[in-house]
Amino acid sequence: GERLDFRASKQRLLVVANRLPVSAVRHGEDSWQLEMSVGGLVTALLGVKEFDTRWIGWAGVNVPDEIGQKALAKALDEKRCIPVFLDEEVVHQYYNGYCNNILWPLFHYIGLPQEDRLATTRSFQSQFDAYKKANQLFADVVNEHYEEGDVVWCHDYHLMFLPKCLKERNSKMKVGWFLHTPFPSSEIHRMLPSRLELLRSVLAADLVGFHTYDYARHFVSACTRILGLEGTPEGVEDQGKLTRIAAFPVGIDSERFIKALELPEVQDHMKVLKQRFAGRKVMLGVDRLDMIKGIPQKILAFEKFLEENPNWRNKVVLLQIAVPTRTDVPEYQKLTSQVHEIVGRINGRFGSLTAVPIHHLDRSLDFHELCALYAVTDVALVTSLRDGMNLVSYEYVACQESKKGVLILSEFAGAAQSLGAGAILVNPWNVTEVASSIGYALNMPADEREKRHHHNFKHVISHTAQEWAATFVSELNVTIVEAQLRTRQ
Ligand code: ADP
Ligand code: G6P
Repeated sequence: GERLDFRASKQRLLVVANRLPVSAVRHGEDSWQLEMSVGGLVTALLGVKEFDTRWIGWAGVNVPDEIGQKALAKALDEKRCIPVFLDEEVVHQYYNGYCNNILWPLFHYIGLPQEDRLATTRSFQSQFDAYKKANQLFADVVNEHYEEGDVVWCHDYHLMFLPKCLKERNSKMKVGWFLHTPFPSSEIHRMLPSRLELLRSVLAADLVGFHTYDYARHFVSACTRILGLEGTPEGVEDQGKLTRIAAFPVGIDSERFIKALELPEVQDHMKVLKQRFAGRKVMLGVDRLDMIKGIPQKILAFEKFLEENPNWRNKVVLLQIAVPTRTDVPEYQKLTSQVHEIVGRINGRFGSLTAVPIHHLDRSLDFHELCALYAVTDVALVTSLRDGMNLVSYEYVACQESKKGVLILSEFAGAAQSLGAGAILVNPWNVTEVASSIGYALNMPADEREKRHHHNFKHVISHTAQEWAATFVSELNVTIVEAQLRTRQ
């Protein structure tokens, strides 16, 4: 049939995500400073421009008092953001607990935490209760700001309970849900004590989206095997109601990166970096300090490379920029000390009085510094053990038009399906393979680098965040029109 296109009309879009694009830091009773949030979800959604968008989410801070809440809401309003206030206990049980200690590791095939696997169902249950309560709070705020005709686009594993809460409040609401992480094999999802409730709730949405076809297929299998529903090529059917399920691979705002490279400020950073590392090849890692990113594995592979290639010692350096994240979750604290220990050991082993092989920074970089780093480095190392998409790999490619550096990319990142032909794909668990890929990348002749880069660059500039959102929203509108036609028949 004819493809409906709603893009021209500047549709109102309510984006609902746990994380707002800015996080708040308090400076006084009614004074707030807003800082950019870090992560793939924020990066993708900031690239979405052609809608009349409002963003509903948590500002990353506990604000118990009304004066503070009012002042923060006002400051956020200027950014077209609407806060959801969560108290400390809810954040602890919902965000640190259920989201980041249970769903996140499970969806990335790390499994469930030991204590929950062993019959302490009480803590599991109370965390799930807090999760549902938090989702209800999000639904209240959405409901308050909803206007007829709005598209409500819910995001990520924090808000799997939200589609159901929204439809219960208003069955006419157009609701989409998109997952930014992998959706695991149904055999993994089966382990989750709340497996039924979460699937059912997501199915209340009109359209459910994933980064890759595999994740969508896993979700459909979970619905057929665990809920016993019927899977069709379009989605999942439950008592005559169809939920559309499809893949919508995300991208970045590539132009923003390409243009930034021309800025004098970025050029200055590039000059400094080039001088600093003159005569050496530079490898780059940029990650949140997360257990899924395979940072220890990456560093151990680099150590193996140095061990086996004495001629490269002093001629290559690894810059690992790892911004701390979710620091109240014990697993993340353990990871930080583990990484520091490995880096210290390797620098002690291969460093000299004047140089070390690994520069590890526990911090985030601002946009200009990041662009400069992407542009001047020779190899990017992305070794995620699992990763929904991985936008760092896209950002690196976008900034490499002149240098044509090599991307080493984990086959377990969603991006492997789109950048696989240009990147060197590796199994991050195989340290030997990653070490030899480092050697291959460092020695790659210019014509091969050019060919590989060109392939990926073409993809990155033609599959943008804006296209991703436009396709999702247009598909959501079409789905709803089709459903209306079906019920009329
Ligand atoms: P994730 O969503 O798991 O964090 P992605 O690779 O998809 O992974 O997205 C990460 C985003 O966060 C990218 O836009 C990247 O630029 C940004 N980012 C990650 N680490 C840093 C860092 N150390 N400093 C600045 N930005 C970072
Ligand atoms: C991933 C998740 C996002 C999250 C981001 C940063 O990209 O998919 O939902 O916002 O990590 O994590 P944080 O816990 O700081 O929001």
